[in-house]
Amino acid sequence: MRIVSTLFISLMLLGGIASNLAAQTAAPIISYNSQFHPTLARKGMVVSQDYQASEAGLEILKLGGNAIDAAVATGFALAVTHPQAGNLGGGGFMMIYLKSEDRVIALDYREMAPQAASRDMFLNANGDVDNRRARFSMQSSGVPGTVMGLTDAQAKYGALPLATVMAPAIRLAEEGLVVNWALSGSLSRYKTRLGADPASRKKFFKEDGSSYQQGDLLRQPDLAKTLSEIAAKGADGFYQGWVADRIVETMKADGGLIRHEDLLNSVAKERTAISGTFRDYTVVAMPPPSSGGVHVVQMLNVLEGWDMKSLGHNSAAYIHRLTESMKYAYADRSKYLGDPDFFNVPITALTDKGYAGTIRAKIKLDAATPSTEIAPAPALPDESKDTTHFSTMDAAGNMVSNTYTLNFSYGNGRTVAGAGFLLNNEMDDFSAKPGTPNGFGLIGGIANSIEPGKRPLSSMTPVFLFKNRQPMMATGSPGGSTIITAVLQTVLNVMEFDMNAATATARPRIHHQWFPDRLILEPGHSVDTRQLLARMGHNVSAVASYNEGERVLGATMTIIRRPDGLIAGSADPRRPGAHAAAY
Ligand code: DON
Repeated sequence: MRIVSTLFISLMLLGGIASNLAAQTAAPIISYNSQFHPTLARKGMVVSQDYQASEAGLEILKLGGNAIDAAVATGFALAVTHPQAGNLGGGGFMMIYLKSEDRVIALDYREMAPQAASRDMFLNANGDVDNRRARFSMQSSGVPGTVMGLTDAQAKYGALPLATVMAPAIRLAEEGLVVNWALSGSLSRYKTRLGADPASRKKFFKEDGSSYQQGDLLRQPDLAKTLSEIAAKGADGFYQGWVADRIVETMKADGGLIRHEDLLNSVAKERTAISGTFRDYTVVAMPPPSSGGVHVVQMLNVLEGWDMKSLGHNSAAYIHRLTESMKYAYADRSKYLGDPDFFNVPITALTDKGYAGTIRAKIKLDAATPSTEIAPAPALPDESKDTTHFSTMDAAGNMVSNTYTLNFSYGNGRTVAGAGFLLNNEMDDFSAKPGTPNGFGLIGGIANSIEPGKRPLSSMTPVFLFKNRQPMMATGSPGGSTIITAVLQTVLNVMEFDMNAATATARPRIHHQWFPDRLILEPGHSVDTRQLLARMGHNVSAVASYNEGERVLGATMTIIRRPDGLIAGSADPRRPGAHAAAY
């Protein structure tokens, strides 16, 4: 009797599992993103920092768009739904992998300094940097590159018409978007900065001056007009005509430097991607004016010489090696990295395995070397607080990894009156004075000095991984100076520790940037580990807190194509509202 009933229950259970499996097989999404498991799907995916923007990209994939169409749709949608960093008035980098040609495109649409910019423009009478002017004035804006970048990518590599791809963004701006908790909280936190600019106040606050609450409808009619102009005329709809007029008027009204000529000279450049290897992986990343690709490859070269896996993930010995390699990379960054159109960046030397070996030899395995004892390499052989990343992948195997920004949250807080979009404060990413830290504590020198037409050095690090020559992963992150180290740890978690997209994202991170000499640990590292690191001489002084949304280390948006062909994505749980949309 007992046996019979057990058998009966087992059959019932098996039946249940089978029908469950059948349902799952039929379901477009096989599993949903958690801290431990990625979203799994078969056809395509968009992972971004905002639910409605990811869904906008997915809508375009379902219409037959490719990964590039989806990325462009997401990029324009984020300008509406995630104004902290999604933008028309900023700039960024897009990495594209074209499956049919087995080719990577590294598209640089970073802002450029206006013609009237000059090396000492942010110094006051005493020769000190005037941070208010460098970060919050009209002069803090570089010439926006985003519209050039997105429309270029779309025209060359997209499959659908631009107007189709931009339709979701226009709809969200015109009909309004339902304000989510993350946006209402962020707008309230930045009320002082945004409220000081009449056009930003009008755009982001109600007529009586009160804040939008979760669930309210936010309409952005001026932004909708600008987006429609771009949809109809392409980049000319932004860099010429009435939108350009509005930008120049806004500049002239308050001492800004951008003029029509600067807008007409705006150009997005295809550059040769940085390529490195780590064991049997190939790492392909954004070249200068991003510093990210060079330094991720440089640090991986240093770390490859040790068996990191055997040290144990996030053990003190592991974190020590990571930290020391970070210090050397950021020291070199301060001297050698800048816009390659203006400064000869020694990319080959910095990403050379032999050079990494000399760094590895200097690293003591039992003690931290104080940052004051580490300097940029004296010679090499010849040869910024809100940003956002999104990744897309389609059924054909194309993928996109895009990071773009206004620099700080909401840029300089100034909206172009009548055109409805925020301006960047990217000029602060230049080194306004050698040795004086920028808004992210980063120092630099001549390589990153201000010159007309030059692009400020960036930390944004969109990355692809390939395994056995097959495209495998797209990722990237916001986080100013912490972007490079967040991306490094995410790819190491996959390459060295076999983690899936979700666990590789969620595991606690660390950060060191040479100066200040401080090792930042996210919550989740054990007290034992912290004590061991302190005993080795690390200044474990600041521990980021998950309760202060902006003090986390990065927010990666990752998609991995698994060996079984399924697409696995993870939106970083560090930022509220992030979402992997898939089908
Ligand atoms: O390009 C850069 O490196 C900075 N402008 C990025 C700023 C940023 O990531 C702000 N962060 N969350």
